[in-house]
Amino acid sequence: MNDLPPKILVVDDEPIARTNLAHVFSRRGARVTVASGGREAVAELEKDEFDLVITDLIMEGVDGLAVLERAKTLWPDTEVVVVTGYPTVETAVTAMRRGAYDYLAKPYGIEEARLLAQKALEKRRLRQEVKLLRERLRDKPDPLTIIGHCPAIERLKRTVAQVAPTDSTVLLLGETGTGKELVARTLHLLSARRDERFLAVNCGAFNEELLENELFGHEPGAFTGAVRLKKGLFESAPGGTLFLDELGETSPAMQVKLLRALQERVIRRVGGAKDIPVDVRIVAATNKDLRREVEAGHFRQDLYYRLNVIVLTLPPLSEREGDVALLSRFFLAKMAKKLGRDSLTMSPEVMDILAAYPFPGNVRELENIIERAAVMAEGEGIDVRHLPPDLRGEPVRVARPCANEPVTLEENERRHVAWVLGHCGGSRTKTATVLGIDRASLWRKMKKFGLE
Ligand SMILES: Nc1ncnc2c1ncn2[C@@H]1O[C@H](COP(=O)(O)OP(=O)(O)OP(=O)(O)O)[C@@H](O)[C@H]1O
Ligand SMILES: [Mg+2]
Repeated sequence: MNDLPPKILVVDDEPIARTNLAHVFSRRGARVTVASGGREAVAELEKDEFDLVITDLIMEGVDGLAVLERAKTLWPDTEVVVVTGYPTVETAVTAMRRGAYDYLAKPYGIEEARLLAQKALEKRRLRQEVKLLRERLRDKPDPLTIIGHCPAIERLKRTVAQVAPTDSTVLLLGETGTGKELVARTLHLLSARRDERFLAVNCGAFNEELLENELFGHEPGAFTGAVRLKKGLFESAPGGTLFLDELGETSPAMQVKLLRALQERVIRRVGGAKDIPVDVRIVAATNKDLRREVEAGHFRQDLYYRLNVIVLTLPPLSEREGDVALLSRFFLAKMAKKLGRDSLTMSPEVMDILAAYPFPGNVRELENIIERAAVMAEGEGIDVRHLPPDLRGEPVRVARPCANEPVTLEENERRHVAWVLGHCGGSRTKTATVLGIDRASLWRKMKKFGLE
């Protein structure tokens, strides 16, 4: 929002009246213009937009109602307050019906005028804010797209489309930054619940008491400080989706309550005695190995089984052959849009470095790297020097190709060499550099693996 002082037009054919009003407002920092009659006021309105117009109603020639009408036609968002010397109900009502914010009856106190103006300005400010937010929402479609062509992602996308319209609970597994939240939101958007709320809670970010309060709410007086009733997230997204992120971090006691909510679809507020039915679709996520957590006694087996019906596993980026290039292009386009540029380019060296980097932070890390580089590049193409130091300096490491089944070391090496070769467009020099071996050794390996 702009924080400029408000612009006010004061219209009165009585010099003392308009001078007084002008003085009140300009003393408070407003930018005030005065007009000694309707005709002059209309001329001002045709020149410029005002936040607020305060006009006398009864004036020679062009009267206050005409000023009001002109103001509303030219600037529908401008607020108009009319001043009337004959506070008959009719004139005030007419003015309000034609769009005036309110009227001021003579004789009025300075303070009264000031307060009324302040309220009118506040209304205008709020309306503009709402408009802005609406536009922002409309301009932000940023359609959720799960980018990726590697077989694991293609499979994932198909399953997401199949599972989304059902009300089934879904468990998302995957390392940090692999896109669990993105998938959770996509499940919501592809379901019949899309017009209702999607609420996300990071279960790892609260202690047990706070999490319970957050999820289930509390009755008034449930504990010191619980003055009013508070609905929890389970009750706050009726018909919607609740995303329980980092579910693996919850305590066993909390897991019992969650199991009940999942199984019986009822919850109990903290301090409450009655079961409250809830209608919310649950999507849960964790980057922990839940099976191992169950074995270690950290995660309840019954809840694990309850969640283990539809499980979507997001592969680490390093196992998604070809997706680094694809995602890079996607994030480049996204950044270009954000920075208001036609396009952003990236040098082939940068692409090589990225293709070879293992991305422990997965897609999020790639996104951050590109965002940073795009900002640093300031309009030029993205170059190696725009990458974070550890990517620039380190000897090039290479990502694992997609290997879902366990294979021998030798087979792994064969695939790896083949993949890097393909990636380097068949250039042996480049491939040898990426692999960190000399060309002769590369040649021997290619011969051994039949890759010539
Ligand atoms: N396949 C994808 N296509 C496009 N963007 C993706 C993809 N996967 C992840 N992203 C983006 O990467 C970022 C991280 O994804 P997200 O927050 O979903 O990860 P996460 O698995 O929930 O991570 P964490 O476990 O750390 O919470 C987000 O900005 C997301 O939009
Ligand atoms: Mg997440």
